[in-house]
Amino acid sequence: MKKFTVGLMLLLSTLAVNASTDAEREAIAKRIAPVGQVYVAGAAPAAATTASGPRSGQQVYQAACFACHGTGALDAPKPGDAAAWEPRIAQGFDVMLKHSIDGFNNMPAMGTCASCSEDEIAAAIRFMTDGA
Ligand code: HEC
Repeated sequence: MKKFTVGLMLLLSTLAVNASTDAEREAIAKRIAPVGQVYVAGAAPAAATTASGPRSGQQVYQAACFACHGTGALDAPKPGDAAAWEPRIAQGFDVMLKHSIDGFNNMPAMGTCASCSEDEIAAAIRFMTDGA
């Protein structure tokens, strides 16, 4: 019985090795292919968005700022949190904009949005401070 089990396992492992032949590799390549296509398809609208003018403050916020400002990560002030925004607004919009462009403590330069224009950053700040 034990010999039979060992023999069966050997047979199975041989089959497993045989499975990773050219045919199997081709099948894997075919299964991976649609992922590449989805990626390309997903990249197209982004390019179109860039070409069709500046993104709205809300779009920039959701794409780049939400990771910290939406969750309060690293103590980033959340949109609508008037108490958190008040002293920042008090220093003037230009200071907030400069801090967003250059970076400020744990606030990264351009809020990690490397493709953003300064106008788009300003729009995102307006979006976040609107309710504050
Ligand atoms: C990696 C996390 C992170 C991301 C992403 C991020 N922020 Fe911030 N942000 C912070 C933190 C933390 C602070 C608070 C910094 C402080 O006061 O020490 C902050 C502060 C700010 C302030 C207030 C600056 C001031 O002068 O008090 C503005 C405005 C701001 N962020 C805008 C943005 C915008 C716009 C984006 C997206 C384009 C963005 N942030 C993305 C973490 C982030």
